[in-house]
Amino acid sequence: MKAALWTVFAAIISFVHGVPHPRGSTVVNVRSQASPETCGNGNTTDLVALYETYDAANTIHFYTIIDSNVTVALQEGQYAFNGVVGLIFPILEPSTLPFLCLSNPKTSSYFYTTSETERANALAAGYTDYTTMGYIYTTQVCGSVPLYRVHFIGANADYIYTTSIVDRDNAIVQGFTDEGIAGYVMEPASGMIIN
Ligand SMILES: *[C@@H]1O[C@H](CO)[C@@H](O)[C@H](O)[C@H]1NC(C)=O
Ligand SMILES: *[C@@H]1O[C@H](CO)[C@@H](O)[C@H](O)[C@H]1NC(C)=O
Repeated sequence: MKAALWTVFAAIISFVHGVPHPRGSTVVNVRSQASPETCGNGNTTDLVALYETYDAANTIHFYTIIDSNVTVALQEGQYAFNGVVGLIFPILEPSTLPFLCLSNPKTSSYFYTTSETERANALAAGYTDYTTMGYIYTTQVCGSVPLYRVHFIGANADYIYTTSIVDRDNAIVQGFTDEGIAGYVMEPASGMIIN
């Protein structure tokens, strides 16, 4: 298990190092290759990986586009790295909305939504705004795929976001509630899924 994690860690490092940072900004993992499928607006097509990390002891799924979150998670050992869920935008692009991330200190869960209504409901339920974790499509355009959302409702609430129908259905079997589609993301290039 340790060896496997180390392989993943090495893979992330080599992936991160292999990617140019054309704007020298704080945004990491910028892919500069524009492709028609990304429907970029003439800007450099800034798709980045949305990573999944998981704290099994506390049943917390945390999704992030920030490399240091993954690095720190692996170093501290609380979170495991589960791979790349999909590719999303670090900046607002046509047809996208902010993927708002809220956290709930009480249940230690993270909730992501593009809906201001859902955000308001979550705030009322004890969540607080955490960050905007990139931007995702709200309709299936540009070759994107559905990002499914399932919710474990309980004291140890948890949300899983996945493009995999198999993973979604497995979670439902384990007691998660199907909450439909959170938005649409691009599929990672082959070889990018490290799990
Ligand atoms: C590039 O993106 C930025 C931010 O989304 C926007 O302000 C700008 O107009 C875009 N440029 C072009 C050429 O579309
Ligand atoms: C993710 O990274 C940001 C920027 O480094 C940091 O402020 C934040 O605390 C990290 N979040 C988690 C949950 O590790």
